[in-house]
Amino acid sequence: MSRVLVTGGASGLGAALVAQFVAEGHQVLSTDVSVDGPDDGASYLKLDVRSPEDWAKAVEWCEQNWGGLDILINNAGVATGGRIDVESLEEWDRVVDINLMGVVRGCRAFTPVFKRQRSGHLVNTASAAGLVHPPMMSSYNTVKAGVVALSETLSHELHPYDVTVSVLCPSFFRTNLGDSIQGDDTQMGATARQLIEKSPRSAEDVAAGVIAGIKKKQFLIIPDRPALMAWRTKRFARPLYDRQMRKIAARARERAESGNG
Ligand SMILES: NC(=O)c1ccc[n+]([C@@H]2O[C@H](COP(=O)([O-])OP(=O)(O)OC[C@H]3O[C@@H](n4cnc5c(N)ncnc54)[C@H](O)[C@@H]3O)[C@@H](O)[C@H]2O)c1
Repeated sequence: MSRVLVTGGASGLGAALVAQFVAEGHQVLSTDVSVDGPDDGASYLKLDVRSPEDWAKAVEWCEQNWGGLDILINNAGVATGGRIDVESLEEWDRVVDINLMGVVRGCRAFTPVFKRQRSGHLVNTASAAGLVHPPMMSSYNTVKAGVVALSETLSHELHPYDVTVSVLCPSFFRTNLGDSIQGDDTQMGATARQLIEKSPRSAEDVAAGVIAGIKKKQFLIIPDRPALMAWRTKRFARPLYDRQMRKIAARARERAESGNG
C-alpha cells in the first residue's frame, strides 16, 4: 500500500487518479485550490500549487499523518495558448506560475523527504505538448516542455537517492480543463476547448494508463496512441512532422485573414 498525494485532485485526471488509487486500497491525500474537497474516500487538504506556504503545510500533513510519502503526483494545471502576438504576457505569467513553477515547488518541497527516506516517486504531469509543439500554443508547449526537462534532470539527480521520477505526456482527453482558458486569443481558445471536449478519451482511460506506467516505474508515460504517434513521427519522420505542423499554421493564417481568427 502506497501513500499518494495528488495536486489538482478535485477534477479531471487528478480526480480519476484519486478514485483509482483509493479503489486499489492506497492511502490518498487529494489536494486542490478550494478549502473543501469532494467526498471521494481520500483525505483532502487545500493546496494552491502557487503557494510555498501551502506546500510546507502539505509536507507537514504527510509527515504527521503518514510519517512520509511514497508518490507525489504534480497534476494541477490550466490550459493556455494563442498566437505569440495575441496572447498576453499576463497569460504567460499565469501558466508559468501554475503549470511549471507549481511542479517545481512540489518537487522542491518533497525532495528532502524522499532523500531522507531513500525512497519516493515524483510523477509530473506534462502533456504531449511537452514533446511535440504545435503552432499557436507557445505558452502551453513551453511550460510543458519545461516539465519534461525538469523531470529528466531530477530522474538523474535523484537516482543516487533511490528516488524515481516519471513524466506524463497524454494527448487531449475530456475534462474541465477548457474552463480554465481565459486568454486574449479567443479563436485558439475555442479550438483547444473543442479538442478537449470532443476527445474520445476520458480522464479515467488516461488515469488507468498512467497508473500502469507508475507501477512499472516508467520515466516517460505516454498513455494514449495519438500522443505516441505524434512523438514517434517527430523522432523518426521529422520532415513529415514539420509538414503537419506547417499545415496547422497555414490553416490558422487563412482563418485569421478571412476575418474568422
Ligand atoms: N485534458 C487534457 O486534454 C490534457 C492533456 C494533456 C495534459 N493535461 C494536463 O493534465 C493536468 C490535469 O488537467 P485536467 O485536464 O484534469 O483539467 P481539470 O481542469 O479538469 O483539472 C485540473 C485541476 O487543477 C486544479 N488547479 C488549477 N490551478 C491550481 C492551482 N493553482 N493549485 C492547485 N490546483 C489547481 C483545478 O482546480 C482542477 O481541479 C494538467 O496539468 C493539464 O495540463 C491535460
